[in-house]
Amino acid sequence: MPAFKCYSLSMEERKQRYLVTSALPYANGPLHVGQIVGAYLPADAFVRYLRARGEDVVYVCGTDEHGVPITLTAEREGKAPQEVVDYWWKHIKETFESFEISFDNFSRTSTPLHAENTQLFYRKLKEGGYISEAESRQMYSPTEERFLPDRYVEGTCPVCGYKEARGDQCDNCGSWYEAYELIEPHSKVTGGPAEVRETTHLYLDLPKFSDRLKEYISGQKHWRTSVKNFILGIIESGLEKRPITRDIQWGVPVPEPGFEDKRFYVWFDACIGYVSSTMEWAKMIGEPDCWREYWQEPDTKLIHFIGKDNTVFHALVWPAQLMGVGEDEEEPFVLPNDVPANEFMNLEVIVDGERRAMQMSTSRNLAVWLHEALERFPADPLRFYLASTLPETGDVVFSWRDFQSRVNNDLIGTLGNYINRSLSFTEKYFDGEILRPNDFSEETSEVFTDFKALEARFEERMRAPRPRDALGELLAMGRRANRFFDAAAPWKARKEAPEKARADLYACCVLLGSIAYHMDPYVPGAVARLEKFFDGPIARVSDLDGMPESYRVTGAKPLFKRIEDPEVADAEEQLAKAATG
Ligand code: MF3
Ligand code: ZN
Repeated sequence: MPAFKCYSLSMEERKQRYLVTSALPYANGPLHVGQIVGAYLPADAFVRYLRARGEDVVYVCGTDEHGVPITLTAEREGKAPQEVVDYWWKHIKETFESFEISFDNFSRTSTPLHAENTQLFYRKLKEGGYISEAESRQMYSPTEERFLPDRYVEGTCPVCGYKEARGDQCDNCGSWYEAYELIEPHSKVTGGPAEVRETTHLYLDLPKFSDRLKEYISGQKHWRTSVKNFILGIIESGLEKRPITRDIQWGVPVPEPGFEDKRFYVWFDACIGYVSSTMEWAKMIGEPDCWREYWQEPDTKLIHFIGKDNTVFHALVWPAQLMGVGEDEEEPFVLPNDVPANEFMNLEVIVDGERRAMQMSTSRNLAVWLHEALERFPADPLRFYLASTLPETGDVVFSWRDFQSRVNNDLIGTLGNYINRSLSFTEKYFDGEILRPNDFSEETSEVFTDFKALEARFEERMRAPRPRDALGELLAMGRRANRFFDAAAPWKARKEAPEKARADLYACCVLLGSIAYHMDPYVPGAVARLEKFFDGPIARVSDLDGMPESYRVTGAKPLFKRIEDPEVADAEEQLAKAATG
């Protein structure tokens, strides 16, 4: 767990309990930057800030280890699904660690505890009368003696006649259909023929939650309107029962006779993974029951950070599951307080000498993989750039060229430069120690007032949660502080009016403490390095309760390294190759 940085919390700030989650990534491949800006970096910045503000926060995640794509990978590689997810769980966990995502626990959904929880959720939903059974038609492979998930089926498109149409959708004409409508359907694995058979599945009765869901969603005044309207639209158009079981072998077993050869659908158990991860965390810290506070105390704020493709599951189905299991409990589960869903990230790629925005494609290896990006650059500049371009309001484009200019101009040119010169002046000309002056100039009071306003704006945006907008306020602090430094001109003043220069530099250190405080959610590594040579409170000006006696600086070094042209060219070339290749 990262160290707390709350040097100066006013006592009347009541601690708010938060449970924050990031979508559980599938344990089926490496992480790419699109996922990072969707669900992880915004959550991590938010959580780091809340911790610094002294709030009571638990931040959980883990890998999503069920589902058909994982079984497909396993078959392709001739491995057991468990082997596949073991490998990717470790890979993903280590990548998050290098990127300094500060989960309190990173779990996984193939644990016995999670299977137990999923079955418990199921039983409670059944007791509540929310589960029913029904027959449906499914593709079956007689030679393999198993039902085939849609992704395992191929055939001729019933609409356009395309021969390699997928089980649920034609890549040629875009039509959607049921797999049994394909002409000459066959198994993608063996090529053998597939036929239609009846099969029985369990269904979650979503329509029964319709009114309650509508009331709940309409009441969320603070939600992003895109999320809210999307869900209200779905409720309005009428909910249907959703199948929660599948004819596959990999997943959580279904505790019903006759369902031995079936498993729960991955989206039935996925969100329950948040509960399992919290329980695992509670055990880890030696208070096995305290997960309940976070899930069942009504004043907990439960916040799910996700990419927009996960919206239905988190803002509609999951709340229904939570409503359904909570009914006979003395303490029902809380419902999500917010589901900040982010839009997508495209990639700028050079094709035939031209810069183009292209959609990421993990299957074509057209993606910026996080572990590879981290081999090129440290976490701080990557985090800073990605935070500056979070898809909070619309799709965005990742560009290595923008990465370079944001890092060199904003992170280094504005913030790093301010920090550097304040530190080096203090060290060089004032022997690394500046005592509190007796009084402050008018300019100093002004800059403090401006900072307090910027800090309030930052706070509001970060809590929204809009960490990208908050980052804009941080840069405004950097520019304001630089202006103060320029006007104070300590390089001149130290000779002409040394006492004034000293007082101004003291004020610079106060501003530096605030800038560092607000940088920490984005570039925690840099702030940790800064603390080794900067001895003074890293705190908001608004929270300073009386000015500190002194600031000390010893052995200051620049916090960041510029991004050079050849480094960018090399990264761009790798993408260009993937695009053409
Ligand atoms: N694995 C899903 C995806 O990557 C997200 C699952 S979020 C969960 O799209 F919490 F519900 F698991
Ligand atoms: Zn077609």
